[in-house]
Amino acid sequence: MDLFEYQARDMFEAHGVPVLAGQTATTPEQAEQAAAEIGATSGGVTVVKAQVKTGGRGKAGGVKVAKSPQEAKERAAEILGMDIKGHTVGTVMIAQGADIKEEYYFSVLLDRANRSYLAMCSKEGGMEIEQLAVERPDALARVAVDPNVGIDEAKAKEIVDAAGFDAELGAKIAPVLQKLWDVYTGEDATLVEVNPLVQTGAGDIVALDGKVTLDANADFRHPDHAALEDTSATDPLEAKAKEKGLNYVKLDGQVGIIGNGAGLVMSTLDVVAYAGEQYDVKPANFLDIGGGANAQVMADGLDVILGDEQVKSVFVNVFGGITACDEVANGIKGALEILGDNAKKPLVVRLDGNAVEKGRAILNELNHPLVTQVDTMDGAAAKAAELAGSAK
Ligand SMILES: Nc1ncnc2c1ncn2[C@@H]1O[C@H](COP(=O)(O)OP(=O)(O)OP(=O)(O)O)[C@@H](O)[C@H]1O
Ligand SMILES: [Mg+2]
Repeated sequence: MDLFEYQARDMFEAHGVPVLAGQTATTPEQAEQAAAEIGATSGGVTVVKAQVKTGGRGKAGGVKVAKSPQEAKERAAEILGMDIKGHTVGTVMIAQGADIKEEYYFSVLLDRANRSYLAMCSKEGGMEIEQLAVERPDALARVAVDPNVGIDEAKAKEIVDAAGFDAELGAKIAPVLQKLWDVYTGEDATLVEVNPLVQTGAGDIVALDGKVTLDANADFRHPDHAALEDTSATDPLEAKAKEKGLNYVKLDGQVGIIGNGAGLVMSTLDVVAYAGEQYDVKPANFLDIGGGANAQVMADGLDVILGDEQVKSVFVNVFGGITACDEVANGIKGALEILGDNAKKPLVVRLDGNAVEKGRAILNELNHPLVTQVDTMDGAAAKAAELAGSAK
């Protein structure tokens, strides 16, 4: 899960990373109020910052300086509702204005390819770090971080040295990197990025921006992380699926997919995408119903998929293993009974594996007008794509 900047700011603060005062606002009036409070400590200057989970906010006009509460109100009115790369701004953060002397860059992230962590640091922070990485890779230091050691004093020194900071400045920045490592490991993050990390006119090092991605696999260790989730942005079908304990991801397509096992579902998406080219249709979702394909799970899965208006046909692709095909076939039968008139779109079912003959016999006997059985995965994908194409 990606956090909003204001959530990252609060997390940084809790771990002792130096940050500036910040408050969120969802209306221009709230922004004015916040600016009045925050500006009192920074000569009246605040910065109004769009809270959207995408980069390049500054360039898009989503970060604006305000010299008075009245100006903060005006800037907030401009920024709230703005569209930044497809994200509508619903919240701004009013941040204390910083007297920036220099801008630096720091991040630590999961380096999957090397089965390790990677710290990146540069003396040239600000808004163009992606460009810097491409055009002048030497200006961006990359230092591997041993997960068992982390960013201790020695590693922090190694990072600031690699980035080319002189000894005096490096000694100021290194402790901040150690604190950012506390955030990374203490919160089970897969990314902590600060761009810019600044030096102020007074010589303080402050994190002015923050990007944090949390590892959902570690949620069980952090009950407090659930409150950070942005439910307003969750697709309603995905929310419904989550409630029912289903592994569902909505995609932009017309052929609904249900399968058992993530690997099988992934390859089902591939064959449907391929077969769909001919009919100009695409897979509509990922849905793995896992091992227990009983009637209720099947009904829940179908219910979610059929709730997607874009869907024109559904491909149920099941390989019977521990859950045998006859149980799955009974699951489909039961699901159709549970859904009744709510099931209106054609289902193409491909069963294979354990007890396949029994499973197919159950569906043959059912002889449901919406159900077509096809024995092979490719054949079934083609049929589902064809049905979706003709119903478009
Ligand atoms: N509190 C602040 N005081 C003064 N200037 C600020 C403050 N926050 C941001 N800025 C300036 O605005 C620039 C852009 O801000 P920020 O890094 O938060 O957004 P961004 O880089 O455009 O967004 P993203 O990191 O999402 O791409 C900073 O590089 C900095 O120069
Ligand atoms: Mg930034």
